[in-house]
Amino acid sequence: MQFDLSEEHLMIQKAARDFAKEHLLPGVIERDEHQRFPAEQIKMMGELGFLGMMVDPKYGGGGMDSVSYVLAMEEISKVDSSCSVIMSVNNSLVCWGIEHFGSEEQKGKYLRRLATGEIIGAFCLSEPEAGSDATSQKTTAIDKGDHYLLNGIKNWITNGSSASVYLVIAQTDIEKGHKGINCLIVEKGMEGFVIGAKENKLGIRGSDTHSLLFTDVKVPKANRIGEDGFGFKFAMKTLSGGRIGIASQALGIASGAYELALAYSKERKAFGKTISQHQAIQFKLADMATEIEAARLLCLRAAWLKDRHLNYDTEGAMAKIFASKVAMWVTIEAVQVHGGYGFVKEYHVERLMRDAKITQIYEGTTEVQKIVISRSLLA
Ligand code: CAA
Repeated sequence: MQFDLSEEHLMIQKAARDFAKEHLLPGVIERDEHQRFPAEQIKMMGELGFLGMMVDPKYGGGGMDSVSYVLAMEEISKVDSSCSVIMSVNNSLVCWGIEHFGSEEQKGKYLRRLATGEIIGAFCLSEPEAGSDATSQKTTAIDKGDHYLLNGIKNWITNGSSASVYLVIAQTDIEKGHKGINCLIVEKGMEGFVIGAKENKLGIRGSDTHSLLFTDVKVPKANRIGEDGFGFKFAMKTLSGGRIGIASQALGIASGAYELALAYSKERKAFGKTISQHQAIQFKLADMATEIEAARLLCLRAAWLKDRHLNYDTEGAMAKIFASKVAMWVTIEAVQVHGGYGFVKEYHVERLMRDAKITQIYEGTTEVQKIVISRSLLA
């Protein structure tokens, strides 16, 4: 068992940390307040290779492992989790999905541009009535010979208006249940594809979350990922890796809040000494650091398994449940350490507390992760 990071891992971690401090921190409060998409920051992230980290260099990616991805996600999320969700969806859902299951034609057409950040992608599974119960897709993709006719509505789609490429999960043959579901690559601008309302969210407000409407959209057969009926398994496999990304996001939110609380506790004085000299605060910091370290180990272990091509479905789900719970708890504690200052925007921790909540909801709620884990325990 080896716990130390390689030179390369440390370099990636430092590069992400420096980038986040220099380029994401300025303006993060305003972007959150005004729900402004971080277009400039995402462009820079693409140029630096953060949007296609694990993609094979022959398709324009960084060729890095999942451990590197976890380290970078943590650092970016410490500062701006709107940027990290955009990064996570592009890396682990869109790029990974196309690279592992797409045709060479699809990789040539879309993957290089996605991996370099020239364009970004979106993953469209959730519907108004199909969130956790992902087999209940109402969106239909009817087989019309050389194309599918796509109809339906998708909800809560990250990168909803900023993406150029959308992986859309839809039901082709209801009789076949989950085996009748397909994933189609839909391009922005295809006739009948309309971007719906933007959500006004509690957290990750810089990222654009939209509903999407499809009315008789003609999608060429060449845009289907994998064999006919592979769409549900495609979504499950892709989301399994996505959960490691969101677990790392949660980890970053927690460690970002902890670092702010630690620094503040050493500056703020009360009753004649810094609050860090009061045992009430020391115990809080000790508990926060311990929980964060446990979350970090779960994230890295899931990534380590993925890098060795071992099964990581259960470990990814465990990492996501635990890290998202830690993020919620640590951020609330960080606000408490800051007292009244924690309740105002300038100190960042109230934003991290709002951002933490979504990590218990998207890419599978905590309850969905428990289904995944308990099924594997009982199998
Ligand atoms: N890998 C490969 N195959 C898998 C799999 C995996 N990880 N998980 C399930 N499958 C297969 C099963 O083996 C089964 O195949 P067979 O019938 O051939 O054996 C098939 O898929 C159906 O599996 P289940 O019977 O387990 O399916 P279920 O309906 O009971 O659902 C579930 C299980 C885990 C609850 C699943 O529906 C699920 O993960 N739901 C949550 C979906 C989700 O994460 N939504 C979030 C939307 S995406 C998002 O948030 C993106 C964003 O923008 C940030």
